[in-house]
Amino acid sequence: MLLIPGPASRELGEAIARLAQLELGKLEFKLFPDGESYLRLESSVEGREVAIVQGTHPPQDRHIMQLLLMVDNLKNLGASRIVAIIPYMAYARQDKRFLEGEAISIETILKMFKYAGIDEIITVNIHSPWILQHTPIPVANLDATGLLAKYTHNLGLSDPLIISPGKKGEAMASIAAKEIGTDFAPVRSERNTHTGEVKVIIEADVKDRDVLFVDDIISTGGTAIKTVKTLKKLGSGRIVVSCIHALMVGDADKRLLEAGAEKLVATNTIPNRYAEVDIASLIAQHVKRE
Ligand code: R5P
Repeated sequence: MLLIPGPASRELGEAIARLAQLELGKLEFKLFPDGESYLRLESSVEGREVAIVQGTHPPQDRHIMQLLLMVDNLKNLGASRIVAIIPYMAYARQDKRFLEGEAISIETILKMFKYAGIDEIITVNIHSPWILQHTPIPVANLDATGLLAKYTHNLGLSDPLIISPGKKGEAMASIAAKEIGTDFAPVRSERNTHTGEVKVIIEADVKDRDVLFVDDIISTGGTAIKTVKTLKKLGSGRIVVSCIHALMVGDADKRLLEAGAEKLVATNTIPNRYAEVDIASLIAQHVKRE
């Protein structure tokens, strides 16, 4: 198998190729002055199985377009099978029609990927795993929660309580808690579909207790900031905020630290300044097993 890192995930792609001992393909890439993407494949792919590594983090639409150009080009040049490694899957939060008439964005994206010629997708902690039952392409959804928990546990929190909001929160919290041998508490979070405002309810006793907040995505930081403020009001101890995908829109990180988080930790599915947890080996191991 040949592995080609796309422009969105060059470093991670090279690390995966190194760990999985795959030949690295070469791609020339540039942006035209008007913002359109240009790419040229410099490796021969005729009859070969090819993996592309291209995250679809911001600017999402540009990264998606680049992925489509790469895939269609590979197909055209005779690649026998195409595996797309997409460490962060964009548009997965719009996985149903919350309001009448809304586009179900993740369905559109997956249909486009299928039509372009992707045979299999490997991703990490997709926001809406429940859609994987009926995707047009097989999707392997790897879980980096254990890696994240193990790393943050070594930061010196004392017997931390794990807190994780959202629909999948309890499952994520229980995986993290099991990994480091501690307990977790449920958090209810509700987002107003019109205003985007988040309400957070914590019923556990957190007085003087260190807390490890774990989430799949931190985007605007709204959910995490509300949770940190609520924890502080309830008298918690130290708080470390961690996530798999750090979108950190605007000054989300600054506001999180101001709210009372002591430290922010993320993985490198998206290149970001808090990426202390490397998921290259998680993906490389999966690729090697296939
Ligand atoms: C919610 O279901 C997710 O797990 C995240 O908590 C949410 O997507 C984060 O978004 P934001 O940072 O904008 O609150």
